[in-house]
Amino acid sequence: MRCSAALAAFVVLAGAAAAEPQRLGFGRPATPQEPGAADIDVRADGAGLPPGQGSVEQGAALFASTCAACHGERGEKPLIPALRLTGGRGTLATPGAVQTVGSYWPYATTLFDYIRRAMPFNAPESLTPDQVYAVTAYLLRLNGIVPDGTVLDAGTLPRVQMPNRNGFVGVYAPSH
Ligand code: HEC
Repeated sequence: MRCSAALAAFVVLAGAAAAEPQRLGFGRPATPQEPGAADIDVRADGAGLPPGQGSVEQGAALFASTCAACHGERGEKPLIPALRLTGGRGTLATPGAVQTVGSYWPYATTLFDYIRRAMPFNAPESLTPDQVYAVTAYLLRLNGIVPDGTVLDAGTLPRVQMPNRNGFVGVYAPSH
């Protein structure tokens, strides 16, 4: 009995596959805006950075209210050591390597990308572009990479030189 029920189901399914319906009765076409809203990646060279701007000082206030609970005040004394965001310059090749924004990240642009899509950890994609520019500027200031008063936008952010920019090696042979 069981067997024949399963066989019947198979026959029905096989029949459905053969008919190839044009519409399955659910879903809808994407609106023209929807693919654009999901397209938030920012490349290393800054392609994809949105309009907007934010300063070190604006970022300091936002970091205190939105990030410090996990990453520690000024990114120094986090909940767990892996969440430290400052310091560690020059330690990567030592047994006590401390990996942070300042010691490890090769591009400021991809720092923006990461924060925009993933932080705060409990509410990803909740920050506006202005807020992401601001908190990125603050993290770069904490790491001694930009001075007080810096305002970052799509023009200035790609020009920031990260200390570990040349600390990476390509693992694939050039294709040409
Ligand atoms: C609820 C806790 C929490 C909050 C709040 C939070 N983060 Fe994070 N953050 C994390 C965790 C957990 C990771 C590691 C995630 C992973 O590796 O997948 C992380 C990773 C990061 C990293 C990457 C660190 C590295 O070097 O790999 C950055 C940068 C960062 N957070 C910035 C921020 C900023 C800016 C804010 C505030 C807008 C924020 N975070 C708020 C928990 C938090």
